[in-house]
Amino acid sequence: MPENNAPVTITVCPDGPLLVRGDVAIAAAPGEQPQRPDRQVIALCRCGASGIKPLCDGTHKLTKFRAR
Ligand code: FES
Repeated sequence: MPENNAPVTITVCPDGPLLVRGDVAIAAAPGEQPQRPDRQVIALCRCGASGIKPLCDGTHKLTKFRAR
């Protein structure tokens, strides 16, 4: 659960990841303990090709991912 009341924002990068800003926690799978990232902005993979899912590792550029 967030530790403050600051809004969480999600920005869709054209042909890239989802940038999540704010105090969030990520559960790798249902039922797993959520982990709090050590940064205030994280990039979530949207292309499916990242080697560090659920985070983006930049592979979308190599694969020329297009959102549409
Ligand atoms: S969106 Fe960047 S690796 Fe998938």
